[in-house]
Amino acid sequence: MSRPEKIAMSSDEFRLLRDLVYDYCGIFFHDDVSYILERRLNSRLRELSLESFGEYYRFLRFSSERRQELEEIVELLTTNETYFFREKYQLDAFSDEILPELIERKAYDRKLRIWSAGCSSGEEVYTIAMLLKERRDISDWDLEVFGNDISRKMLQSARKGVFGRSSFRAIEPYFKDKYFEPLEDGFYRISDEVRRIASFGQLNLLDDEMLQLLGKVDVIFCRNVLIYFNADARRKVVETFFDKLHDLGYLLLGHSESLINITTDFELVYLVNDMVYRKPRQVELRGVTR
Ligand SMILES: C[S@@+](CC[C@H](N)C(=O)[O-])C[C@H]1O[C@@H](n2cnc3c(N)ncnc32)[C@H](O)[C@@H]1O
Repeated sequence: MSRPEKIAMSSDEFRLLRDLVYDYCGIFFHDDVSYILERRLNSRLRELSLESFGEYYRFLRFSSERRQELEEIVELLTTNETYFFREKYQLDAFSDEILPELIERKAYDRKLRIWSAGCSSGEEVYTIAMLLKERRDISDWDLEVFGNDISRKMLQSARKGVFGRSSFRAIEPYFKDKYFEPLEDGFYRISDEVRRIASFGQLNLLDDEMLQLLGKVDVIFCRNVLIYFNADARRKVVETFFDKLHDLGYLLLGHSESLINITTDFELVYLVNDMVYRKPRQVELRGVTR
């Protein structure tokens, strides 16, 4: 019998696969979008010559190649949309209000660490790095913008630092002219001075072991990532952010994201350009920090 063009996914198979994907990376598919999982994973069944999603589920649970296969799934299921200077009002808040406050407060350390969590192909990391580079008063500080993503493909692109037209849809010509070198066919390469303070790593935001390796940071940008998670995964990731931030460190979420029903641990700071979250100063109570 010949193999059908497209293999159908039963509702039981959907739930098993949905939960497996969710446990791995936090991305949650509601019942009404089961067709997305079915459509996107069909190519894996073809690739692996499997006859049903049940077989695929068993492969993902028990095969010695399960780890690599989960990584393949992530490449098919994540939304990687991003561009330079996305959500400009928030970046204005960062450069005009948050940075000056941090620079004053950290004048003794002369060190700033910024984390772009779920950085996709790197546009957010390089945007933040350009904004840091604009500040002459910290030109001799120890600066680092670290971007992580679960997708190896996206990180490869980020490290390459070469971008096409769609990445530039919101950038001002000033930044494009100053920090990019034109290549052929409408592509541009990010300058070395920006690249030097940027770094990237493959890291799953739900992987506690790997996250332990990450040091404390002053600001976390996690924009347009948590929208794909359900409440439990959001809570877990936000707890990690709380741990990883220095006291009075800032958390910047995407415009449609908030910590409502997730946690009350952060304080809301009303800036001129935006509202942002900040980790309150932790006080020691009889040896217990909180
Ligand atoms: C829509 S992009 C957001 C990019 C950028 N932050 C922005 O706002 O332009 C979401 C990114 O989150 C990543 N992502 C999803 N789940 C993740 C996880 N569990 N750990 C790390 N990154 C994840 C995806 O691979 C994707 O590149």
